[in-house]
Amino acid sequence: MPATDAATVDYFDRHCHEYGRNRIRGVAKILRPLVEPGARLVDVGAGTGGNLARLSKALGITDITALDASAESLSRVRERLPDARTERVSILEPSQVASLQGRFDIVLMAAVLHHLVGPTRAASREFAREGLRRAASLARPGGLVVILEPVFTPRGPVARGLAPSSALFWIKRAVTTVTSERVPVLGYWNNIGAPVVSFYSHPEVSSMVISAGLQPIFREVRDQSLGWGDALIERGDATYVARAR
Ligand SMILES: C[S@@+](CC[C@H](N)C(=O)[O-])C[C@H]1O[C@@H](n2cnc3c(N)ncnc32)[C@H](O)[C@@H]1O
Repeated sequence: MPATDAATVDYFDRHCHEYGRNRIRGVAKILRPLVEPGARLVDVGAGTGGNLARLSKALGITDITALDASAESLSRVRERLPDARTERVSILEPSQVASLQGRFDIVLMAAVLHHLVGPTRAASREFAREGLRRAASLARPGGLVVILEPVFTPRGPVARGLAPSSALFWIKRAVTTVTSERVPVLGYWNNIGAPVVSFYSHPEVSSMVISAGLQPIFREVRDQSLGWGDALIERGDATYVARAR
């Protein structure tokens, strides 16, 4: 069975979203004193290239590469950044990324881990772990790996028992057996249809970072209110900047 989820790739070929602009500003500030002239930057799961455009501009980096499993996303990157190298690869397919290993000074992976889904939550967790390990292997020894990931941490034993991220995963798995479209509930971004996502808590993402052999030099979780859901779940945007060994 291929590790890459065909339905996820199909979804991103049909929906090339533009995501928040502000996430990358803080990252650029942290990286600026650490970046050397001639640095090579790769964005894993680059989407339409917004982060790559903003980060490369902020750091004055011209050697830029976008990787994504979605061909349509990469064509948006080429329109936006004609000088960028683009490669259609799945970070989960070893043969597709082998030639890229150790080639970059900075590796960015933003909002990708929860999209590396398998048939079950346990399989998805393994894919996320493996995906991060492979992304980290693209950095040269001592290079920098930046991970941005939304995290959902249940508050207290009742919420932990309800396992909201697992519940969402299985609801989406069920709904996507009848439609491959989004099914918004109370606003566009609250969606129980495609794509299936497997969100993790902050401790889970931390453990993935460590097991990828990375040494964090900066970590932060910014709270993002879920409104009515705040009593049950702490939602945050996690940022890691880590050194590859
Ligand atoms: C939520 S978007 C994030 C895009 C961009 N990183 C950002 O933060 O704006 C997730 C991206 O991951 C890509 N993706 C999903 N599975 C992938 C895989 N196995 N290998 C590489 N890219 C993948 C999708 O095609 C999509 O462009």
